[in-house]
Amino acid sequence: MCNPLSIRLLFYSLVFTLCSCSADTWESPEPFTFEIPSHFQPVPQPVNNPATAQGIFLGRKLFFDPILSLNNNLSCASCHRPEFSFAEPLMVSTGTNGGAGNRNAPSLVNIAYANALFWDGRVKSLEDQVLETVPNPLEMGLPWSQALQRLSQHTDYPDLFFRAFGPGEITAERVAFALAQFQRSLLSYNSKFDKYIRGEAMLTPAELRGLDLFRTEKADCFHCHPPEGSFLFSLNRFSNNGLQVWGAYADSGRATVTGLSSDIGRFRIPGLRNLAYTAPYMHNGSLATLEDVIAHYVMGGHPAPTIDPLMKFTGTGLSLTLQERNDLLGFLNTLNDDEFVSFHVSNAP
Ligand code: HEC
Ligand code: HEC
Repeated sequence: MCNPLSIRLLFYSLVFTLCSCSADTWESPEPFTFEIPSHFQPVPQPVNNPATAQGIFLGRKLFFDPILSLNNNLSCASCHRPEFSFAEPLMVSTGTNGGAGNRNAPSLVNIAYANALFWDGRVKSLEDQVLETVPNPLEMGLPWSQALQRLSQHTDYPDLFFRAFGPGEITAERVAFALAQFQRSLLSYNSKFDKYIRGEAMLTPAELRGLDLFRTEKADCFHCHPPEGSFLFSLNRFSNNGLQVWGAYADSGRATVTGLSSDIGRFRIPGLRNLAYTAPYMHNGSLATLEDVIAHYVMGGHPAPTIDPLMKFTGTGLSLTLQERNDLLGFLNTLNDDEFVSFHVSNAP
C-alpha cells in the first residue's frame, strides 16, 4: 500500500543503504508533514521536537531494536506489537528480566493526541515516557549510560543520529526525540467509522443502533469516550469506572502519582480504536473480551467513594437487551482500522 509515510521510509532506507558512509556535512533534516483527514485536529508536537523524515526513520528502527534492553531480548515492539495495533495480547507485560509488571500494555494508536501517558498519567509527553521506560527494570532495564555506549559503538546508529539531529553525541534526549517522532506517526483514521464520518461508507442498521446507544444516555458511553473529534474516543482525563471491588484495589491508579485519596482507582480513560486487536482490556487486562467489557458496564460497575459520577448505573445496572448489547458491540467494531494494522505489520523491519 502506498501512503506518504511508506514512500518516505522506503526512500530513506534506500538512501541509507546506498550511502552508509558517514556523511561529514550535515544537511538539516526534512520536515515531515503528517497526513491527516479533515475530521482530525493537527498532530500536536512539541516546538523543540518537530517531526522530520530522518527522525521518524531513526525512531522506527529504535522501536523495533532490542538494543535498548538490558538483556538484548526486548524491543518496544515486543510489548507494543504492530499486529495487535501496538498493544499486546497478555494481561500484563513481562520485562527484560522476566519480571511481571502489573499493567496491560496500551495500544499506541493516535497516541500523539493523549495529553498524559501511562494508565496513571505519570508522564506528560512521549519524550519523557522514553526517558523513564528504557531504565525501568520492569521494562527495558538498561541504564542510559549503557544504552548510549551501545548506540555509539553500533555500525548504523551514529550516522542515523547525525542525519536526524546533526553533529554531537548520541544523548538520551535524542533517543527520546526520535522514538517520540515515530510514535506520533502511528495515526489511524481509516476505520469504517472514520469513513462514515467522511461520507465514504455507510453503517449497517445494527451499527447505527449501536452508535445511537453509545452516544445517548441509553448506554451512556459518550461522556467518557466522546466520538466528537473522533481521533481518540477518550475524554483525556482520569476516571474510576468501578472495575475493581472497593477495599480490594490491587492498583490505586492515579493516586500512586498524586497521593490523593480522591484519585484512588482512577485511571486514564483509554481510547477505543482498534479494540478487535487490543484484547485483553482495562489497566490490568482483567476483561478478556469486548462482551466482558459490555457486561461490566451493564452491571454498572462496583460502587466506590471515588466512582465517576458519570457512571450513572452503578448499583442499579444498565438495562440493555441482548440485541442492544450486540448492536453496541457492532458499533465498537466499526472503530477497527485494518489498513493501519496491515500497513504497520508489513512495514515492520
Ligand atoms: C515489557 C513490556 C514493554 C516494553 C518493552 C515497552 N513497553 Fe511501553 N508500556 C508497557 C506497559 C505495561 C505500559 C503501561 C504502563 C503503565 O501504565 O504503568 C506501557 C505504556 C507505554 C506508553 C503510554 C501509552 C498510554 O496510552 O499511556 C507509551 C507511549 C509506551 N509504552 C511506549 C513504549 C516505548 C517507546 C518503548 C520502547 C522504548 C516501550 N513502550 C517499551 C509495556 C512495555
Ligand atoms: C465514567 C467514565 C466512563 C464511562 C461512562 C464509560 N467508560 Fe469505558 N472506560 C473508562 C475508564 C476509566 C476505563 C479504564 C478503566 C481501567 O482500566 O481501570 C475504560 C475502559 C474501557 C474499555 C477498555 C479499553 C482498553 O483499551 O482496555 C472499553 C472497551 C470501554 N471502556 C468501553 C466503554 C463503553 C462501551 C461504554 C458505554 C457502555 C463505556 N466504556 C463507558 C471510563 C468510562
